[in-house]
Amino acid sequence: MTLYSRVRPLAFMLPAETAHDLGKRTLRATQSTWPTRRALAAAYRYDHPALEVDLFDTTFPNPVGIAAGFDKNAEVTHALEALGFGFVEIGTVTPYPQEGNDRPRLFRLREDEGMVNRMGFNGQGMERVKERLEADGTPGFPLGVNVGKMNSSTAEESIEDYRRVFDRLSPFADYVVVNVSCPNTPDEFDEASPEHLRAIFETLEAENDADVPMLVKIGPDEPEDAILDLVDIVQEFGLDGIVATNTSTSREGLESPNQEEWGGLSGDPIEDRSTAVIRSIAEHTDGELPIVGVGGVDSPGSAYAKIRAGASLVQLYTGFVYQGPSTAKRINRGLVALLERDGFSSVEEAVGADLEHR
Ligand SMILES: Cc1cc2nc3c(=O)[nH]c(=O)nc-3n(C[C@H](O)[C@H](O)[C@H](O)COP(=O)(O)O)c2cc1C
Repeated sequence: MTLYSRVRPLAFMLPAETAHDLGKRTLRATQSTWPTRRALAAAYRYDHPALEVDLFDTTFPNPVGIAAGFDKNAEVTHALEALGFGFVEIGTVTPYPQEGNDRPRLFRLREDEGMVNRMGFNGQGMERVKERLEADGTPGFPLGVNVGKMNSSTAEESIEDYRRVFDRLSPFADYVVVNVSCPNTPDEFDEASPEHLRAIFETLEAENDADVPMLVKIGPDEPEDAILDLVDIVQEFGLDGIVATNTSTSREGLESPNQEEWGGLSGDPIEDRSTAVIRSIAEHTDGELPIVGVGGVDSPGSAYAKIRAGASLVQLYTGFVYQGPSTAKRINRGLVALLERDGFSSVEEAVGADLEHR
């Protein structure tokens, strides 16, 4: 029995967001001194050469990252590194602080091992995040920065929002993600329409003198042809990759009472859909466009399925809530065993192994 399996029932007695805040406070306290940080790393890191991924001009120590939303304000990046994750994507960061939606806005779907959230881009804003990255230093593993717009912004204002956050935070980033797929912010206009995407990418491209790798994050709910149209635009602009996928508005096949809550669904229930989106993008692009796979990753098998479907890296959020601090170690150790079983010498060799064109 792990410690977390004893702590989890207590944590799950608290409202989900309270438990999350408490968990983050614990991580922040743990990362604040060298001895505690080192003790965490000694207990949880798992390194193996087969896990390393060279991508976006940097080396990821392993392919299992923390998805956007967990550490919106870059408060616990060092603790997440010590817990054995291969990278973290902070954000979504907006230009100014924003409250988000009223609480409660985060719900566990225990029977389904999922969650529904309608946080609504709550966050401290780019200046506070920048100050923190300067004060704490960037972590020793790759850092992604997920950029977003203010909820009140019009289509035109939103372009300027993305530009400003990009300008302020890209110097700290190993890659930047433009998030146009949040299902729980007000949608006054179609954020993922071709015209809007073109306007965003043109603006950011002009801003990107340092050639920071730029990706876009998409949702799982659009039909396949709409997703592939978006992928075509991503390629037209020479972007560096796609993060697939964000949360879903679907409620198919759920058992938990909390499925009634509005917001984005994550975790187990979206695993297969997210993997299908990854596969279809990888097939459409002949495996040429790097994909960061996210949605329902919580085990070696679920991570491996996304890698074999074409993801070079994977991320998780909900799996961490259900599986606890040893999640990354367990997945990474299991991945090494799966690679060995199938005769791959590295994660990189297994990327896209299930695709037809191979
Ligand atoms: C509480 C919560 C907040 C999230 N906030 C963001 C966010 O700010 N930006 C973003 O791009 N994705 C956000 N996500 C989506 C996750 O990054 C991820 O795409 C999604 O949860 C699917 O992964 P999972 O099944 O491992 O949770 C959030 C997810 C959750 C559960």
